[in-house]
This record gives sequence, structure tokens and C-alpha cells, in this order.
Amino acid sequence: MKEAARQIRRASRALWVTAPVAFCFLASAVLLSQTLKYPKPPDPKNGKQIFNSGCIACHAADGKGTPRSIAGFELPDTFPDFTRCDQTTAEPNSAWKDVVVHGGPSRGFSQIMPAFGELLTSGQIDDVIGYLRQFCTNKHWARGELNLPRALVTEKAYPEDEVVISTAANASGAPGFTTDIIHEQRFGVRNQIEVDVPINAQDQDHTWYGGVGDVTLGVKREFFSSLRTGSILSLQGSVIAPTGNKNRGFGTGTTTFETFAAFDQLFPTNTFVQFQAGAELPRHTDIAPQTVFYRTAVGQSFAHDHGLGRLWSPMVEFLADRDLVDGAKTDWDILPQMQVTISRRQHVRANLGVRTPMNNTAGRPINVVFYVLWDWGDGKLTEGW
Ligand code: HEC
Repeated sequence: MKEAARQIRRASRALWVTAPVAFCFLASAVLLSQTLKYPKPPDPKNGKQIFNSGCIACHAADGKGTPRSIAGFELPDTFPDFTRCDQTTAEPNSAWKDVVVHGGPSRGFSQIMPAFGELLTSGQIDDVIGYLRQFCTNKHWARGELNLPRALVTEKAYPEDEVVISTAANASGAPGFTTDIIHEQRFGVRNQIEVDVPINAQDQDHTWYGGVGDVTLGVKREFFSSLRTGSILSLQGSVIAPTGNKNRGFGTGTTTFETFAAFDQLFPTNTFVQFQAGAELPRHTDIAPQTVFYRTAVGQSFAHDHGLGRLWSPMVEFLADRDLVDGAKTDWDILPQMQVTISRRQHVRANLGVRTPMNNTAGRPINVVFYVLWDWGDGKLTEGW
């Protein structure tokens, strides 16, 4: 009983040392920010007039698109139905604006979608996009602007349709690497499932061993999101199955329940902060200790062509882990990195960084971490280049 009380005290201490800083940050963020900045606020009424003269022939008055027979062209299977919130909310306004200004091919879409950059002013295009947004009437869908660049370790709050292949390789100590194959899939308005299969390869006394690690199955739910304030909050619960070989160091040897909260904040300057805090609770604590973790990623996105082109997102993560056992210290790592969009559609992206332990460095190697992700909600892997 006393031990349990001590553990809870320790866990809360570890989390709450950083919490006040985070809280001040967030409070100011929520009070000050207005995520989408315009020279003048978009006027959907004006947007409707533009839509009715320039877009209606193909996109139809109801925003669902003109039937194939009338359109006179073969509708691409990515042709948007603007009333379908599940298809449209994940797209940030910048993606649409790029297509309206430069035409479909600018994001690897059909050339049937014309370029309007010479016909309409930037403000008129913002107005018509404001009008397009009114076709989706369910406001519970989190907007794609809140889908911040994925950090290498910190999990984000936005529910995703994504496949990620992420590798961490030892840059010091014995050679070895772990590749995580991660599948994330949305269901319903706010939920997402996640499967993470780690594959290990390690040089142990000059012999290479390989094997699957502990497989994670998780469910995430978004609880709050606001485009106005730029904030999104989610909770996740996961089961980590002891599929990895404990003797080889590829697994913990016990089923573990993991839970975390993720809160992301986007600022009008395209600066962003992502927070993730949680705990890992093994079923058999005599085999593996309970741990708490706290992660944060701070970054900034840049895109040329007034925010419509290729997106570069430098970030730095601060990662804290602590075993809930007597005398354990919090391990701190720092992980600077750069994410960049590879495909024109920005649905294929890569990220590279170096994870360096800041303290308790014994037995904790420096890691080079790399991922490639494919946001399959945005199109096939072969499309959008
Ligand atoms: C000549 C027919 C045509 C006209 C006119 C037209 N569009 Fe399109 N639009 C298309 C087609 C076709 C696509 C689908 C392209 C694809 O998926 O390959 C499309 C796609 C789009 C998309 C979706 C891009 C995405 O990310 O999925 C947006 C936004 C859009 N159009 C806005 C507009 C606006 C605004 C106007 C009027 C100013 C307009 N379109 C006029 C044919 C047209």
C-alpha cells in the first residue's frame, strides 16, 4: 500500500514539474491565437457568387459534382464531393488554394481542374474556399489544419489515415536498429485505430539477431478541436502484447497497458507545439517496471509560394521517460529533426533526426531516426507526384 502511494506521488511529480510551464504556454496560446490569418476575413457570400459563375459547371450547385453524363469528361476517382465531411475536412485550405490558384496538376490532380490564379484575386479565392467549407455541415470533424507535421517520437492528437515506416538506428554502442511499421486508420468522426509492429535487428556479441518486438494495438479518440484557437486534444489507450523475445531484449515479456493524452497547438505564424504525456502499466511489474513519459515537439512550418508549395518543418523534441521504481531518474533526450513533403500532393513525407540522451547516458546510445509516411487518405502512393 505504502509502495503504491509512493509510486503515485513519484508519477505525479514527474508529470507536474513540466505541467505548469505547459499550462501557461497553452493558456496564452488559446487566448491569443486565431489560427488562419487573412488580410481580410473570407466572405462566403461573395464566394458563392464566384462559385456560381466559375465552378458550378463542374462542381454543381450542391457541391457534389456534376453527373458524369453532363460533365462531358471522365470524373477522376479523387473528384471531390464537398458535402462529404469525411473527404474534405482533412484537407487544409492551403491545399485547396494551391489547386484553385495553379490548377489540378499542381497537387498531382487532373488537369480538368483549371487554374484560376490569373482570373481571381487571392482574396476572392479565400472567399470561394470559405463558401466550399459550408457544404460540410457537421462541425465535429477536426480540420486538417490541426493535423500538424508528425514528429519522430511524440504522437499527435489528430486522427489519421496513414502508414509510417520509422527506423531508429544506433549511432553509438553496439550496432542495431528497430523499424516500426505503423498503420493508422480513422473510424467514425473522431476515432482512429493504430497498429505498430516493431522489427528489431541487433548485433549482440558480434552475432546479428533479428525479430519482431512487442506489438501495439491502440485506439485514439479526439475529444476537442477548434480551428479558431488552433487546438486539438485526444486520448489514447493501447495494449502492447509481449510478442518480442525478452531474452534477446526485443520485448518486455509481459502485456502492457499504455495510455496517453496528446494536445497540439498551432499558432497563426505556423509555429506549433505538440504535447504527449502518458504511462505504461505492465501486468507483471516484477518483470517490467511501470513507466511514465512526457514528450513535446516544438516546430515551425515553412512553404514557398506564399504557403502553397513544398512544406519544410524543422522541429525539436524533448523526451522524458521515467521508471516508477526506487532511485530511478528521469531520462531526458533531445531530438532535432526536419520533416519535408516529398510528393506534390504532400501525402508522402520524410523526416530525419538525431536522438541524443541528455543525462544518464550509460547504456543509452545516440540514435539516428528516420521515417517515411504515406497519408493514404489523400490518394494512392503512385498518385500525386
Ligand atoms: C472544368 C471543370 C472544373 C471547373 C470549372 C472547376 N473545377 Fe474544381 N475540380 C475539377 C475536377 C475534375 C477536380 C478533381 C481533380 C482530381 O481529383 O484529379 C476538381 C477539384 C477541385 C478541388 C479539390 C482539390 C482536392 O484537394 O481534392 C477544389 C478545392 C476545387 N476543384 C475547387 C474549384 C473551384 C473553387 C472552382 C471555381 C473557382 C473550380 N474548382 C472549378 C473540375 C473543375
